[in-house]
Amino acid sequence: MQVKSAIFVKSAEKASQCPPQTLPEFAFIGRSNVGKSSLINYVANQKGLAKVSGTPGKTRLINYFLINGGWHLVDLPGYGYAKASKSVKQGFSDIITAYLEARDELTCLFVLIDSRLEPQKVDLDFITLLGTHGIPFALVFTKTDKIGVEVLKDNVSQYANTLLQSWEELPPMFYTSSSKRKGGDELLAYIDECIELVNTNK
Ligand code: GTP
Ligand code: MG
Repeated sequence: MQVKSAIFVKSAEKASQCPPQTLPEFAFIGRSNVGKSSLINYVANQKGLAKVSGTPGKTRLINYFLINGGWHLVDLPGYGYAKASKSVKQGFSDIITAYLEARDELTCLFVLIDSRLEPQKVDLDFITLLGTHGIPFALVFTKTDKIGVEVLKDNVSQYANTLLQSWEELPPMFYTSSSKRKGGDELLAYIDECIELVNTNK
């Protein structure tokens, strides 16, 4: 899939303010600072579409983008930002929970994982939560430009082994670098496949 148009639709403070559910929806989620907004800009091929910052906790709203007039790409607030006050952290999880419960059109939730780190409890807990709620997801390992191939392989296989302790099969996995513009084509091809599947099942 080629992205021909990417338009900012709206920022929602809560799930009830999200756009009507008429289009397939794909969302990026993950720890604060993992690279969600950067990946949106890279995949949508538009610098500055989603706000990027060196300060974790930048994205506090649910941001909707319309891609090729046919599907929504959603930038969600980060979870597990250690420096956020308790009430803000709580706010994040409430907004995310309400979002996940409300959006029937959510076709795949991409859980972004910092490829530099060994499996983190906060990510594993979140993935487990998705499993118990039957939410379709895929894993996206970000910032792969910051590490060597061997470290990446090692961290990914640690993830795979940890997940296989409680899952029968692994979710789809992607490897990206927004700064080196890598992995976006694979992500878009997968989104394309998902949209086709949605259309054939209608
Ligand atoms: P919040 O909105 O705070 O939850 O953060 P986010 O997940 O949207 O992360 P964001 O895209 O704002 O990126 C955080 C920082 O990581 C920024 O300084 C980015 O420039 C940097 N960054 C993001 N993706 C990459 C990448 O692929 N490679 C490198 N080297 N840096 C990246
Ligand atoms: Mg962001």
